[in-house]
Amino acid sequence: MEAKDPSPRSSDAKSLANEDDVNCFDWLVEFEEMSDLVAEAAEISHVPAMVSALVLGAGTSALSEALVNEGIVKSVLSLDVEQHCIDFMAQKHKDDDRLRWAVADVTDWHAVEAATQGQRFDMVVDKGTLDALLCAGDCAAYLGTVARAARCGGVLVLSMNFELVSSHLSEVLEWYHHEACPFLSADREKSIREAFASKVGSNMAAAQSDEVSSCAGERLSLRQTYDLLFTPEEKSCYSYEFFLQDTDASRQMREFDESMSLAESLTFLRINQ
Ligand SMILES: C[S@@+](CC[C@H](N)C(=O)[O-])C[C@H]1O[C@@H](n2cnc3c(N)ncnc32)[C@H](O)[C@@H]1O
Repeated sequence: MEAKDPSPRSSDAKSLANEDDVNCFDWLVEFEEMSDLVAEAAEISHVPAMVSALVLGAGTSALSEALVNEGIVKSVLSLDVEQHCIDFMAQKHKDDDRLRWAVADVTDWHAVEAATQGQRFDMVVDKGTLDALLCAGDCAAYLGTVARAARCGGVLVLSMNFELVSSHLSEVLEWYHHEACPFLSADREKSIREAFASKVGSNMAAAQSDEVSSCAGERLSLRQTYDLLFTPEEKSCYSYEFFLQDTDASRQMREFDESMSLAESLTFLRINQ
């Protein structure tokens, strides 16, 4: 999303409100200008019903309040590294128990974990904070916070000065997903290999006794592959139907309609992570 003003630098971001001079202020855009985007994000998420949001670097924006007033979510936890912003907002909204406020550096997972008390959120929202962090902050740690704080199937809504930072963000995302925190970690790949071998073995045994006629050999049915590749939590937000759609959409998998080999399963995870 384009910024209406020049992008803030981190030093500006941190000085947006002096202790003596705290006021409500919205950086980049006001909620009305991004409400369609937020509503769309809620719709495309894999969460059955949006309940909670985490706002990263809330400042003194009206965004958190709008998220509950517009019925996007029922409750919001807003974080900011600046104590005086949080004090100001907590005081301003002291009678609204849908809104909670806490001081935390969003690049410090331990601080965020203390503030969230282990809660995971249907929606994580950032307006202008990653912009600031991209200038000088630890963006990889920020992405780690997003990944840990969002529940499986949840969405990240990001409002930033796209032109300025998009190429840098792509690099950071690429690095994060493929090197820092790969979905298909070495441990996960090892356990998938073991589970696959075991399942193929039992298919072969069943085929010999005529219980199973399809998928004998080194392949598993798509249903078996889905059951084996994903954890129960992942399955709760990534249904078998989504898996079939992704399998279908993935060009390398196209020729394999009914079953997958181990190598294809691992390639599928790598491509789609
Ligand atoms: C550009 S302002 C955006 C504020 C608000 N989201 C808005 O839209 O008006 C960036 C905000 O991020 C906060 N911030 C900067 N670095 C942070 C960090 N590491 N952890 C938490 N908040 C941070 C700043 O204090 C500031 O309130």
